[in-house]
Amino acid sequence: MARPGVFHPRVFKKSDQRQLDTMMNERMNGQVAQSAQTEREDLVQIIDVVKNFGEHVALNQVSLTVKKKELFALLGSSGCGKSTLLRILAGFETATSGKVLVDGEDLSRIPPYRRPVNMMFQSYALFPHMSVQDNVAFGLKQEGVPKNEIQERVDDVLELVQMRKFARRKPHQLSGGQQQRVALARSLVKRPKLLLLDEPMSALDKKIRQKTQLELVNIIDKVDVTCIMVTHDQEEAMTMATRLAVMSEGEILQVGTPNQVYEYPNCRFTAEFIGSTNLFEGVVVEDEPDHVFVESPDLDARLYINHGITGPLGMPVAVSIRPERVRVSREKPEQKYNYARGVVKDLAYMGSYTLYHVQLENGKVIVANLSSLVLSSDDAPSYDDEVWASWNESSQVVLTS
Ligand SMILES: Nc1ncnc2c1ncn2[C@@H]1O[C@H](COP(=O)(O)OP(=O)(O)OP(=O)(O)O)[C@@H](O)[C@H]1O
Ligand SMILES: [Mg+2]
Repeated sequence: MARPGVFHPRVFKKSDQRQLDTMMNERMNGQVAQSAQTEREDLVQIIDVVKNFGEHVALNQVSLTVKKKELFALLGSSGCGKSTLLRILAGFETATSGKVLVDGEDLSRIPPYRRPVNMMFQSYALFPHMSVQDNVAFGLKQEGVPKNEIQERVDDVLELVQMRKFARRKPHQLSGGQQQRVALARSLVKRPKLLLLDEPMSALDKKIRQKTQLELVNIIDKVDVTCIMVTHDQEEAMTMATRLAVMSEGEILQVGTPNQVYEYPNCRFTAEFIGSTNLFEGVVVEDEPDHVFVESPDLDARLYINHGITGPLGMPVAVSIRPERVRVSREKPEQKYNYARGVVKDLAYMGSYTLYHVQLENGKVIVANLSSLVLSSDDAPSYDDEVWASWNESSQVVLTS
């Protein structure tokens, strides 16, 4: 049951997004980026958008607001509707119902050539026989922009993406990262209010991908453009985006800053999709205004949650604990709750950190992410050692959906 007047910081339904935002804003008070975010004007308003392909519902009542100058990421598994939403924003696809406003104007009423939107495609689609300069100038020539203005704008944008010295090269004489920057220049030269990027990094290999991610953020920061980016890659979204939306099966499950979504996932899907986590299924066995106990068949000890939750006694929940919040020790921890006993089954050395796989008697594995410095101590737990995994009461997130 909901308890009026009691703040339930860690349990959210999808509809509680506004509460989450308010709470996070309060919590992150003082963080400039966050407060600037809330004050910015809206650029894109997606209102109850539905898209059906025959019987298939690709987008189901999607609503979303993107603010000016944001780099917003749409994240979700394959087929969840990311590209479909982007294509509707670009005007390549029409929504079955609902509407999209850009700067207050209904997109469907703006003829395609006047839409303040540009989409950068995955394959970049550069003209192979044209130089970098001509590729970038192409759209402006089509629009009949005067020649000297074209030259100026092309020079400026090539400077911005640091490709001026390659202006006369053909695309095949460029690296993947350089081609990507030309494609970006070609999109930006038209000065769109809204830039749509569908998997902008997917043609790049991992090493230059990471470098390009930062470059792209810097470039976009310098121009007056709002970006919506689609990606499969949650790390990419976390690094680049000011805010992100997690999508699944045509629906938006959660919207927030990378930090909000990681620390306060609102459902099992998001908790598992963004980063990795330990999930314990259980039921609420004691329900007080300021704390609850959850019993999980996976654990001998109860889970003590240091706040009330919205829901009845006996309600099934999942408790999420991030691997970096789990401690592993040879000694039994002093706390009465929030621990488990097991055996170290696997140690994955990842460089700066090591993943401990602690297997409980019932077979369930708890993953703990420990600094590799821990490994260098003499009494560091090792393979087949009996250990205790434990965590703080504040490290848990209770999920009801
Ligand atoms: N033109 C179309 N006709 C029929 N079904 C379509 C069409 N375009 C997309 N779909 C379906 O709609 C769903 C969403 O597709 P969409 O391309 O938006 O997925 P996505 O999230 O971008 O996936 P990916 O990450 O694989 O690119 C998929 O099930 C897809 O098969
Ligand atoms: Mg796609």
